[in-house]
Amino acid sequence: MNDTRRLYTDLAWLWPMWGDPADEYAHYCRYVTGLIDRHATRPARTLLDIGCGGGKNVFNLKETFSVTGLDLSPTMLAQARELNPECTFVEGDMRTFRLDRTFDAILMDDAISYMACLEDFEAAFRSASAHLEPGGILIATPDVTTETFQQNRTIATPATRTPEGLDVVFVENVYDADPADDYYETTVIYLIRDHGRLRIETDHWTMGLFSLGTWRRVLRETGFEVREGLYEAGEEEYTVFACVKR
Ligand SMILES: C[S@@+](CC[C@H](N)C(=O)[O-])C[C@H]1O[C@@H](n2cnc3c(N)ncnc32)[C@H](O)[C@@H]1O
Repeated sequence: MNDTRRLYTDLAWLWPMWGDPADEYAHYCRYVTGLIDRHATRPARTLLDIGCGGGKNVFNLKETFSVTGLDLSPTMLAQARELNPECTFVEGDMRTFRLDRTFDAILMDDAISYMACLEDFEAAFRSASAHLEPGGILIATPDVTTETFQQNRTIATPATRTPEGLDVVFVENVYDADPADDYYETTVIYLIRDHGRLRIETDHWTMGLFSLGTWRRVLRETGFEVREGLYEAGEEEYTVFACVKR
């Protein structure tokens, strides 16, 4: 099945309903800021958020850092700019972008999941490394690794109401057809009720799935000293890599 990535194109208007920037994103960003404080070996004033999407992490990080966001999707970047008019946003592909500057810190959050083969995964970390000052810190958070992946895991969000009065529910399913390769598929069903009238939309993404050992090796090989933290969100626990640029 082909990737559609409609959440970042024609259905991007649904993105603000998928998680409140002032809630779970704020909690995660406090954790990220703490890791940067603890591990950076230079003062961290500037931060690049790679795969910044609609700018929900930026919304929280801009209190502490001068933030630049980078994303592939012009539609998502437009949302990020609206939420964070004081920050800088750049369109680019995390595998190949080259900005004419470096940063004290870089965040690679959920967007790194879109690196669906080892070659892209390595290229994204090489690009990050090229944009970090020596002693600066990269924070990278795998959504899942081969150790934590749950076949056919299906979650549904609580219904959220848009400002126009539409009720939206997101249903997300993950499936790995071949554990020997480096990717799995995410299928999303959007249930949109317009004053009771149901509209169903679907979406599909191919996402990378690597072991913790592969994460550690690729991070070391792309120029980082690797440290690890555990981030707790409700009943879930995530490994977070805090990587100091050598
Ligand atoms: C779930 S959203 C990120 C949301 C973000 N963490 C926030 O704070 O709002 C994932 C983003 O990854 C971006 N993305 C996917 N592949 C990319 C690539 N190769 N380079 C840059 N961005 C990419 C998508 O365009 C999308 O905006």
